[in-house]
Amino acid sequence: MNFESIIDEGINNNKAMQGSFSGPLNKDGSKIKFKTIIMKGEEHLQIEKFIDKKAFHENIAMNKAKEKIIALMNDYKQLFITVGSESYQVFNNKGKIKALSAKTDKKAKALSHDKKKNYIINEGDKVDFLIYLKVMSEDGKVYNSYYDKFKQINKYLEIFDKALDKIDTSKKIRILDFGCGKAYLTFAVYYYLKNIRKLDFYIEGLDLKADVVRDLNKIKDALHYDEINFVCKDIKDYDKKDNIDIMLTLHACDIATDIALKKAVELNASLYYRFRVAKKSFSQRLNLMN
Ligand SMILES: C[S@@+](CC[C@H](N)C(=O)[O-])C[C@H]1O[C@@H](n2cnc3c(N)ncnc32)[C@H](O)[C@@H]1O
Repeated sequence: MNFESIIDEGINNNKAMQGSFSGPLNKDGSKIKFKTIIMKGEEHLQIEKFIDKKAFHENIAMNKAKEKIIALMNDYKQLFITVGSESYQVFNNKGKIKALSAKTDKKAKALSHDKKKNYIINEGDKVDFLIYLKVMSEDGKVYNSYYDKFKQINKYLEIFDKALDKIDTSKKIRILDFGCGKAYLTFAVYYYLKNIRKLDFYIEGLDLKADVVRDLNKIKDALHYDEINFVCKDIKDYDKKDNIDIMLTLHACDIATDIALKKAVELNASLYYRFRVAKKSFSQRLNLMN
């Protein structure tokens, strides 16, 4: 039986793998195990190395897994490996690798390494705006490159959800989003209020960029998000006098956030937010009036 094709079987057919090396060929050889795990929705190989009875973990991308297992095999006399429901005993006889079928009742199962967070929007939920904006697939799988955005949206909604307790939600909630940019977060608030809280509300999103605003209005029409409108305007020129309930402004540039906060005070906003996003961490400042 060919050792490399056993590993290929696991990697190419997305079969979970687990293995345990024994008989180190080097004096300092430590006990090593590995298993398939899921991180950020993607399969990885987790190598577990025991040094002084402490376990150290290294998670590597699946396209590097074969190389890694083969390299480790050179340092050990034996490997017991399970790929899906098949198990093998692999021997290293002075560099000659031989694999034999072995019996086991166990089946390798890919374990999720992602901390299961109870998000407001969960992976697997088919959320129209996230599908439209290509954050998730039609069947609700979050694309790897958008995982941070997905987490940011959920964190934002979590904070928004808590803040909502402070205002009267029995009447129509009027929301202004100053400097909405591409409006992932504005659409998230819309989705949350409409589909999860089922409240009566209206959102106005403002941004300086005409092309962005034009696209946003096309998106909201395509999604039939009727209680939202995007306007191309400088925050400082916003001249409507109607009171608002919530002013959102996130990561607006330069002094735009300060102007937004001043407007919020003038418009009697009950809640106004300023979020700062730095190096993917998320901090918030919530200012409450009344
Ligand atoms: C970094 S983006 C943030 C977008 C969005 N709020 C978010 O956090 O995902 C900042 C946005 O504010 C807009 N902006 C900056 N100054 C503005 C102003 N004075 N009036 C309106 N929009 C402004 C920019 O065009 C940009 O799209």
